[in-house]
Amino acid sequence: MEQTLTIIKPDSMAAGNAGKILAHLEQEGFQILALRRIHLSEAQARSFYEVHKERPFYDDLVAYMTEAPVIAAALEREDAVAHLRRVMGATNPEEAAAGTIRALYGTSIERNAIHGSDSPENAAIETDFFFSRADLLPS
Ligand code: CMP
Repeated sequence: MEQTLTIIKPDSMAAGNAGKILAHLEQEGFQILALRRIHLSEAQARSFYEVHKERPFYDDLVAYMTEAPVIAAALEREDAVAHLRRVMGATNPEEAAAGTIRALYGTSIERNAIHGSDSPENAAIETDFFFSRADLLPS
């Protein structure tokens, strides 16, 4: 089994799509290991997306990610990282395959409904950002 990290982004939360997105993920075979609603501070959003700090969209991305609460979830499934990326669809909702979460709920390349880790290594780093080891122990 593999783990990954998702964030249901502020646009999804504001539109009332969080429950539908979580249900979509469960239907795709993801088990929700840990779940957290959090309104990110500017410092937290800057830190989470530090890898993008040189990109022209970084400040806008930080403003967007701090405009409303998000839900972070640690997910488990076989091939979790790659499967979540398939289920999310392309970064730009206009290019995302029909039926993917970003095609269904995203509205722009920035406001794209959901985040998913891009590698198992980053999944571990991103999961550590939101959850403690105790949150992820088997029950
Ligand atoms: P995410 O997968 O969370 O990773 C980085 C985020 O930056 C991305 O989703 C989008 O929300 C945003 N992003 C990526 N590329 C662009 C872009 N070209 N313009 C604006 N925002 C972007």
